[in-house]
Amino acid sequence: MKKFILAIESSCDDSSIAIIDKNTLKCQFHKKISQELDHGVYGGVVPELAARLHSEALPKILQQCKEYFNELCAVAVTNEPGLSVALISGISMAKTLASILNLPLIAINHLKGHIYSLFLEEKIVLDMGILLVSGGHTMVLYLKNDRSLELLASTHDDSFGESFDKVAKMMNLGYPGGVIIENLAKNAKLKNVCFNTPLKHSKGLAYSFSGLKNAVRLEILKHGELDEAMKAELAYGFENAACDHIMDKLEKIFSLYKFKHFGVVGGASANLNLRSRLQTLCEKYDTFLKLAPLQYCCDNALMIARAAVDAYENEEFVSIEEEILSPKNKNFSRI
Ligand code: KG4
Ligand code: ZN
Repeated sequence: MKKFILAIESSCDDSSIAIIDKNTLKCQFHKKISQELDHGVYGGVVPELAARLHSEALPKILQQCKEYFNELCAVAVTNEPGLSVALISGISMAKTLASILNLPLIAINHLKGHIYSLFLEEKIVLDMGILLVSGGHTMVLYLKNDRSLELLASTHDDSFGESFDKVAKMMNLGYPGGVIIENLAKNAKLKNVCFNTPLKHSKGLAYSFSGLKNAVRLEILKHGELDEAMKAELAYGFENAACDHIMDKLEKIFSLYKFKHFGVVGGASANLNLRSRLQTLCEKYDTFLKLAPLQYCCDNALMIARAAVDAYENEEFVSIEEEILSPKNKNFSRI
């Protein structure tokens, strides 16, 4: 029996292909070509450039895993949410492969993929709270026993990861800003710059990062030319306020929902400051904290392949003729 599923991810600025053994959940092949340096020049992702680079990178990666083609039982692809012109590269390739190899096609929601990064080699844990922090999304979710997802909190404006990107751009530090700001903040000798925690006095659970971003912008203007020490101090102040905001609302959510398990996923879940605060919160509430391996927090095709294993078991196939491309987050009410 053929047992490998090939998955393609191209929703934003990473071209990635993975092959997973659906019976053992072992990764057979995984390769990702990141476009970060190409977009870095522009301080953010340029959709047309992303599309061109995907169309160059994906065929190169596919060449390297041809030896597995005879053992494939399905082809999976990220179909939403993301940049249309980027998604379409992966979808076209997946449809072509499924058609030529006569295999079923599986469409995977990117955010569902991120959740599966918690369970790359194991069965999914049901009934858990999830914090999803990426470049495009900031959400707290309740994954229930019946696999349905309840949205407990989301952001009014910028996402957590995006706010790191924008603050890095304001200081001309490059893209993506998450790791850059985190590393810079670690070097801060002086810690005198403090920003207010957004929505601290609001009883609601929603997030908002645009006010904080603006406060950082005004602080930068106040200082004029920034030296390295000042950049580090600003990065430290910003990162702390952004993490304070995430934790402030989570503390409220934890007191309402007594989670036995809590997972954190998405590119920004690699942030160590955030991880250590989450560990402390989970210890306080006697909750088991589940983290994705650091190398699979950011976009990758292995998480899509892992999600596709469960979709394959449930025979969640789509037809090759079907229009599956959706830049919006349409199918995210259950996983
Ligand atoms: O999940 P991901 O690869 O792409 C999306 O689905 O959006 O997340 C990328 C985002 C970027 O905004 C990046 O700056 C942020 O995750 N990020 C971080 C860190 N590493 C990546 N943000 C904060 N701290 C980090 N260490
Ligand atoms: Zn992502």
